[in-house]
Parts: sequence; structure tokens; C-alpha cells
Amino acid sequence: MAYQLFIIPSATPGCSIYVVIDGGAPKMRVGLTPDAPRLLSCRAVFQTQALSASSHGEGQSILLVGEADFSFSMCVAKSLGQGQNITATSLNTKDEWEKMFSKAKPNIQVLKRLTATVIPRVDATKMAQHPGFKAPNVNATKPTLLKFQRIVFNFPHAGFVKGSNEADEDMISRHQELVSGFLKNAYEMLTEDGEVHVRHHSAEPFKRWKVVDLAKKVGLHFREQKPFNLAAYPHYTPKKGAGNDPDGPLTLHKPSLFRFDQLDQA
Ligand SMILES: C[S@@+](CC[C@H](N)C(=O)[O-])C[C@H]1O[C@@H](n2cnc3c(N)ncnc32)[C@H](O)[C@@H]1O
Repeated sequence: MAYQLFIIPSATPGCSIYVVIDGGAPKMRVGLTPDAPRLLSCRAVFQTQALSASSHGEGQSILLVGEADFSFSMCVAKSLGQGQNITATSLNTKDEWEKMFSKAKPNIQVLKRLTATVIPRVDATKMAQHPGFKAPNVNATKPTLLKFQRIVFNFPHAGFVKGSNEADEDMISRHQELVSGFLKNAYEMLTEDGEVHVRHHSAEPFKRWKVVDLAKKVGLHFREQKPFNLAAYPHYTPKKGAGNDPDGPLTLHKPSLFRFDQLDQA
């Protein structure tokens, strides 16, 4: 491991203190995160994150669902230097994502060059039934369901309803249905040593989705919730993903990474 990166949140929004330790030739650099992408390649950032948070390591099979312009998948593939073990999916069709997102096409080109798999029309609440995740099994009548070591849904959102707002109970229920359906399917598709990652806002009214309770209900074990630092993902641009301006930047409200696994709860 060439680098170790430690990010220390500061009181100034968008600015964190970072410390980089270059293990190859021991030396230390200290600065503010807006400078970090210029000093470190995305790859180094990911290598260090994989170390500290077991986010995405080399050789791990990774399934990404609910992608918008595929910038997160592209960043993961670039950071790993290959996409062989990456399956990136979207609820949209190819025609839809090309119309909705200005960067979807170039991001997918990078993913394909890095040999990642890209699958359209994957509904996260039914994905265990999707034919793209079934492998033929010569010894059994039923095909085998493919399993993944990381299953990731960033900023799930069930879409906008005219006249409603995010604090309405019926909107919260719609979002909860989406997240529960995703978690249930992810549980089925997770390897024994795997983790489900959900990035989600932890401010009101989004915290009322109660993502941790939803995960526990489907049998997943809650590992941790930690602040999500977008600055550490230089090519990732979270998108609204639906409505009048799907390509617009998504406003993050105290974003967190929620990690779940299959360990039995004590
Ligand atoms: C706020 S956007 C976030 C998009 C993307 N993950 C990102 O971080 O930029 C919410 C996304 O959830 C997706 N979505 C909604 N319902 C879904 C479902 N049933 N299965 C898969 N994706 C879904 C939408 O297509 C949209 O892209």
C-alpha cells in the first residue's frame, strides 16, 4: 500500500484537514481536502479508503444499483484500475440514461474499457429475480443466483410526486418501501463475507426513513454509520436522478455511509 490518507473533519463546510502518509518513502503531507484530488490520484484515495473502511478492495465483486450517470461506478473502476469484478446497474434503459444524464455515455465508455459489466433496467427491489444475475448450474434444476461482496445503493430515492414534499408520511413510506425492497434482495445476493453499503442523508426529514431499522427487519446486521466525505470521490457527482432536472446535482443533507453485513445479531 503506497499511501495512507486520513481525513479529519473541520468546522468549515467543504473543508477537512487531510494527512497523507507515503509508505513507500516515509513522509507526511498535511493540507485541506479541496487540494487532495490534485495531490492524490483517485486510485490512491480508493486504496486508502479500502484500507480504512473496507469500501471496495481489489478482487472484490461489486454490484452497484440505482446509478444515475454512472459516475460512482466509473470512479470505483478507475480507482481499482479495472472493472472486471464490477457490475453497474440502473433502473433506466440505455436510451433513457443517454437523454437524462449528460455524462452517462462517456462514463459508461470508461466502464466498458475497464471491462465492467453495465446492465440497464434493474429494479433494486426485484433484482434477485433478474435474469442477468442467474448463472446456469449444471447440477441443479434451478440456475444459481450470483452473489457479490459489496452491494451499493447511493442515495436511494423513490422519485418525486407533484404536490408532495419529503416530509410527508406517504413520501417517507414510498422511500422506505424502496430501501426495504433493495435490502431484502441485497441480503439474498450477498456473499457470507459481504457488505451492503447505503449512502443516505442523515438530516431531517431523511433520517425518518430509519434505514438501520429497515435493514434489521430483513435480517441484515448493522455495522456502522459514518459521515460520507464526497471530496474523497473526485469523479462522483450525485444526481437528482428523476423529475424535471434528473441531471441536476443532488443536495446532500449530512450524508452518511451505512454499512451492513450478514453476521447474526447477538
Ligand atoms: C437521488 S438519485 C441517486 C442516483 C445515484 N445513485 C447517484 O448517487 O447519483 C435516486 C436514484 O434511485 C433510482 N431508483 C429509484 N427507484 C429504483 C428502483 N426500484 N431500482 C433501482 N433504482 C431505483 C433512480 O433511478 C435514481 O437514479
